[in-house]
Amino acid sequence: MARTAVSHAPRSAGEASAHSLDAARLRWRDAFRRVRAETEKRAAHLSAEDQIVQSMADASPTKWHRAHVTWFFEQFLLVPNDPAYKIFDQRFPFLFNSYYVAAGPRHARPQRGLITRPNGADVAAYRAHVDAAVERLIETVPADKAAQVFSIVEIGLHHEQQHQELLLTDILHAFAQNPTDPVYDAAWQPQRPALGPRGFVDVPAGIHPVGYEGEGFCFDNETPRHEELIPKVRIARHLVSNAEWLAFVEAGGYTTPSLWLSDGWAVVQAEGWQAPGYWRQHDGAWHSMTLAGLKSVDPAASVMHISYYEADAFARFAGKHLPSEAEWELAARAGVIADAFGIAWQWTRSAYLPYPGYRAAEGALGEYNGKFMVSQMVLRGSSLATPEGHERVSYRNFFYPGARWQFSGLRLAEFE
Ligand SMILES: [Fe+2]
Repeated sequence: MARTAVSHAPRSAGEASAHSLDAARLRWRDAFRRVRAETEKRAAHLSAEDQIVQSMADASPTKWHRAHVTWFFEQFLLVPNDPAYKIFDQRFPFLFNSYYVAAGPRHARPQRGLITRPNGADVAAYRAHVDAAVERLIETVPADKAAQVFSIVEIGLHHEQQHQELLLTDILHAFAQNPTDPVYDAAWQPQRPALGPRGFVDVPAGIHPVGYEGEGFCFDNETPRHEELIPKVRIARHLVSNAEWLAFVEAGGYTTPSLWLSDGWAVVQAEGWQAPGYWRQHDGAWHSMTLAGLKSVDPAASVMHISYYEADAFARFAGKHLPSEAEWELAARAGVIADAFGIAWQWTRSAYLPYPGYRAAEGALGEYNGKFMVSQMVLRGSSLATPEGHERVSYRNFFYPGARWQFSGLRLAEFE
């Protein structure tokens, strides 16, 4: 899949003071254009009807994603920083605010699929209006406000990249409900796992720093960098494959309660899970819905669309564990694991909690990450749907343990 990047943007907003302001304006304008174009490129595979559908409460319509990321720039960048800016449509903030309580009331998430109006052309006009205003602001912001403005452009771009991934995971979920097995992109090819030695490799034991280090962008949940005690543990070089998962299925993994956490077993029963999300049997062979449509399950590919509950049960079945997020990060920093990025997010056994000393920012943007730090589990790495330039070794993705519509897989760990 073609990708775009923020990676040629300035390394941080503060860099504007170190280089000429004009050069910084150009770089941020170009970064803004690249990321905004990638969203439209991903949406361009979809019809107007495709872009309206909401297949479950956790997923959002493509049209909503396109409008919501636009609202983010309007709400957090333009309104506070451009006195001349005119809200495109006074009804839109209610429709396209996601969860920012401090930014005002909002439409109910499970009903986003009912918003047939504004239509796609209205959303395209909204995007064009905000694009022009953001570019104007980038080009004209006074020097004493430039660092502040560029820093909000920066978080807006990383936010939009997160929604680029969700756009794909959400439409795949919708297409998987459609008996005609729609194809998002016939040319889409899954990334092949790395070859090379399998087995387990040592993670450096002892007390080690974990969390973001550097001068570029990171989300607040990757900080503060802090020390963690790493036990003697070994981590799998490779992601768990479909072939390995099939052995779990065929050994009765989904019908053996002793392998499951109690909450997980309850979901297996309630949902009738017998295999990963989107897997179906045809004539005795397993198939799976992918972005290229319904395909035979490739035994060598990484298993995907599994929940934390399934990852945990598989690890128990295998006599192993899931790595903690700190173990994963150290192994990835050491370069000893394959396919850390670009195929499937990897569930860890770490609950999504604040790092020691973490404080969310003041104001509405402080709601970005901090208020979700309960009842969810951390995934590390990135997936085939993650836009280029959005990956970081310290990146903390997080989902509820029953979620499996993301491109989520696992790698194992073992204690000595
Ligand atoms: Fe968002």
